Amino acid sequence: MNIVHEEKLSRQHAKEVQEILYAADGEFVPALSAREGTTQTNLQEQAALASEPVEYFEKMCQQAFVLATIEHRVVGFLSYIPKHALTVCGADIACSYVSTIVVAPEYRGRHLTEAMYEKLFSCTEDAYVATRTWSENHGHIHILDKLNFYLAETIKDDRGAGIDTVYYVREIA
Ligand SMILES: CC(C)(COP(=O)(O)OP(=O)(O)OC[C@H]1O[C@@H](n2cnc3c(N)ncnc32)[C@H](O)[C@@H]1OP(=O)(O)O)[C@@H](O)C(=O)NCCC(=O)NCCS
Repeated sequence: MNIVHEEKLSRQHAKEVQEILYAADGEFVPALSAREGTTQTNLQEQAALASEPVEYFEKMCQQAFVLATIEHRVVGFLSYIPKHALTVCGADIACSYVSTIVVAPEYRGRHLTEAMYEKLFSCTEDAYVATRTWSENHGHIHILDKLNFYLAETIKDDRGAGIDTVYYVREIA
């Protein structure tokens, strides 16, 4: 197993990332295929569902990546935007903004997500790493807590009744 940083996805890795992303589409709230892109803020106003998250994937591919690979094949990925200007609780921070993380189902539970975050902490030039998820994503939130992210902002019912958007930030020492 390798954890590698890839500033620009290679063509082969892009194909493998696409396969993992498309298979996970329905696990996201809302589904990625109902979003215009990776940083969209109006998460309730969804366009009609496309069958696959084509637009989301194209935007994501312009970002930087940390990949988990086995024999050079991608089994999990984290995409992020370096030097992203994020406003949380009225304050502006420049951060590495993690837009998407997926681990292929058969490789979950092996701490690959933790390892990809650790890689990002070690190679980012930003003072902060930030991400957002939905309040019911207990798996991701458990990992963020474990890695010393703090809850920076909650947008109540942003994704439907009882489903908040939660922003998490971690300072890089
Ligand atoms: C969330 C996700 C990326 C986690 O990947 P993973 O590599 O299996 O996570 P890890 O193995 O690094 O998990 C580390 C810890 O989180 C816990 N965890 C992971 N997924 C969990 C879940 N669904 N529910 C509860 N705990 C979970 C693990 O038990 C482990 O806990 P421990 O260290 O206390 O034993 C993966 O489940 C996934 O791809 N989900 C679909 C997409 C998604 O939700 N992405 C995040 C939103 S952008």
